[in-house]
Amino acid sequence: MGGRAYRATVDTDRLAQQLSAVVGPDHVLRDPALRASYETDFTGRYRGRARLVVRPADTAQVAQVLRRCHAAGVPVVAQGGNTGLVGGSVPTPDGGEVVLSLRRLDGIGAVDTAVGQVTVGAGVVLSDLHRRVAAHGLEFGVDLAARDSATLGGMIATNAGGERVVRYGTTRANVVGLEAVLADGTVLNRLAGLPKDNTGYDLTNLLIGSEGTLAVVTRARLRLVPRLPERVTALVGLDSLEAALDVVARLRLLDSLELAEFFMAEGLALVLETSGLPAPFRTAYPVYLLVECAGRHDPAEELAGVLDTAGPGETAVALADADRRRLAAYRERHTESINAAGVPLKLDVTVPLAELPGFVADLPGVLAGRGRPYLFGHLAEGNLHVNLLQVAAEDEEAVTGAVLERVAAVGGSISAEHGVGRAKARYLHLSRSDAEIAVMRSVKAALDPAGVLNPGVVLAEDTALFGRDFRL
Ligand code: MLT
Ligand code: ZN
Repeated sequence: MGGRAYRATVDTDRLAQQLSAVVGPDHVLRDPALRASYETDFTGRYRGRARLVVRPADTAQVAQVLRRCHAAGVPVVAQGGNTGLVGGSVPTPDGGEVVLSLRRLDGIGAVDTAVGQVTVGAGVVLSDLHRRVAAHGLEFGVDLAARDSATLGGMIATNAGGERVVRYGTTRANVVGLEAVLADGTVLNRLAGLPKDNTGYDLTNLLIGSEGTLAVVTRARLRLVPRLPERVTALVGLDSLEAALDVVARLRLLDSLELAEFFMAEGLALVLETSGLPAPFRTAYPVYLLVECAGRHDPAEELAGVLDTAGPGETAVALADADRRRLAAYRERHTESINAAGVPLKLDVTVPLAELPGFVADLPGVLAGRGRPYLFGHLAEGNLHVNLLQVAAEDEEAVTGAVLERVAAVGGSISAEHGVGRAKARYLHLSRSDAEIAVMRSVKAALDPAGVLNPGVVLAEDTALFGRDFRL
């Protein structure tokens, strides 16, 4: 099974000196003020204390940092843009982790138009990649609201989904190969980008979505798709989730559907309150559907053809980029608006589409008055973001358990796109069988026998194995 080979006492001064020799003293952060932004997650829910924050510049430095931490028995948390939402990218309060920031690995290679691929460093920010490849008439298929901060390394580590999964799949479907460093500093390199390559186990796909627990991703070879010039976005106010699902079912028949997102009246009210945006319609609706279609030829007419039969409701349509962004903001600004109102309990789940209306209708009963729900997400995949404000601290576990058990009962997944992290490690059995979890533990033990990579993430730790004698 493997386990942590932590040393009870680690000389942090000595480790800092060793790591400074690798990355330069300016890139080993010890000052609490400099460490702070690396120690707290985006929502403020997960906070820890890093032994050190280390900022290597390239793969060779990452390998040396990992080798030294491994030798010292010090756990390592890899971090990119720190936009993760399940506590997988920040240190714990008393775990003594080194935070390994990959942000300086921000190189974007030459865009290979012959095969439609590009190699990027783990620290490349998604919107920078979008801008770079657009100049070549190409696009990276994955897009998400945190595009200005999220890095490719973090997106790969969590197999990020986002808004265009209905057309391009999750990050996994858009990665051709990886370079990654194992816990002991061994470098695995699979960046040739061969579209056909069945030579043994697919290590790239094993590492995608492993949340920094099996290796640290340093570079990636990405698949690019043609940039579609004609684009139309529509926001539709509807009476019910069933009506929204009906529209999505009909939109799927068009080959131009790019995204189908939803939010609800309560979330829109919060967005309007915090953002100052004008209400999209004169009337308030229970459910809002945001859709986008794109193609070589203007898809506005075929989109209108479907929306015209959407039943009672209102529709706003936008063609120009700025107008499309204005409509998308009603959906994309949910995360920041909810954060502005408090520290949310965020549960990111998939519910089979046929079960979705019933799940949402039953939710108040499941919550039993514990917390104020805001629901939004990626409707085409049944990916529901259940955000809860004002859950009493003593109710958090019970509420999380109740919601995730209901998800499992209707055949859903307890983690759709944010990952398991620390937040859901103890609930993994709801979505995975004992046999699957045993295989996962074997894989973890094979790749990281000392258990130094992101301990407690994905697979819950048995603290009895290690004791709690490991301190800064
Ligand atoms: C989103 O869909 O906006 C992201 O997953 C972030 C979130 O859930 O808050
Ligand atoms: Zn999402």
